[in-house]
Amino acid sequence: MKKIIFIIAACLSLSLQAAEEGLTLPNDAMTKLNGEALIISQQRGMQVYMNNCMGCHALAFQRYNRTAEDLKIPEEVMLKNLIFSDGKIGDQMTNNMPVAKAKNWFGAAPPDLSVITRSRKPQWVYNYMRGFYADEERPYGVNNSVFADVGMPHVLEEMQGLQGKTDKVKSLENEIKYAKEDKAIANKQLKENPENSAELNKKIHDADKIIHNAEAQLTELAANGEYFTLIKEGQLSPEEFDKAMMDLVNFLDYIGEPIKLERQRLGLWVLLFIALFGIVAYMMKKEFWKDVH
Ligand code: HEC
Repeated sequence: MKKIIFIIAACLSLSLQAAEEGLTLPNDAMTKLNGEALIISQQRGMQVYMNNCMGCHALAFQRYNRTAEDLKIPEEVMLKNLIFSDGKIGDQMTNNMPVAKAKNWFGAAPPDLSVITRSRKPQWVYNYMRGFYADEERPYGVNNSVFADVGMPHVLEEMQGLQGKTDKVKSLENEIKYAKEDKAIANKQLKENPENSAELNKKIHDADKIIHNAEAQLTELAANGEYFTLIKEGQLSPEEFDKAMMDLVNFLDYIGEPIKLERQRLGLWVLLFIALFGIVAYMMKKEFWKDVH
């Protein structure tokens, strides 16, 4: 019994932690693709990945030939256009990034992304890739709205251009910042002299209301595509860039679970078999019990 209570408590505290991470915007959903369209998207995503990410992030859990087979890319095309190192078709998809040096360069070593869509969600990765924005206070002049103060540079700047938060977003974020400061002060005062609690509690309540309202407005702005504005245009239009990021995430999602499509296809047949077998078993039971009374 104690063990069960402990497990429930641990789960609760984990989910609370997740909630405390706060609001990360934008949080747009990706269009779902199936069948041939999905494979074509994954092929395009692989091209974006090999050209822009592989130098820093390996996909060491996966081999080139398995990927070529699953994504229906002829092996010669893969060797010629997608493997830039002296890798062979049967090799794991690794790179030569020296981890210790990379830590010095970026503050954190670029992780292997073989299972990134499972440790994070595909939607998270999609929004992370679209979340780089201009921020003078960061070493590379960019920050990320989904992963604050990330060590990764904005590697797709040429493709996407550079975006900044809109004035509305900046002013709402300031409102939240000040309300949080007010709340912290009130909380501190409350600890020091609890006699004054009615007035202080009202202050805290008001601050919470401001934060909640501002966050709701931010969410709405993000949903309407008014969170960022382009400061410098890139090679792609915003719509084309979003599509390229969807392709990229679809590719990473395949790498995260290469058997996924096969599993879903097979699963359907298994369920069908169980249903049919259920009917036959039921009819047989009726037949056997018919004479037993
Ligand atoms: C110049 C090296 C470099 C390149 C190129 C690069 N990244 Fe990164 N990336 C990093 C570093 C460093 C981190 C770790 C940042 C941190 O933890 O602060 C990172 C982190 C990430 C993360 C977050 C991982 C986590 O901890 O959840 C994702 C996702 C990611 N990169 C995706 C990509 C994709 C997709 C591309 C290609 C478009 C790419 N990166 C290209 C250096 C790079």
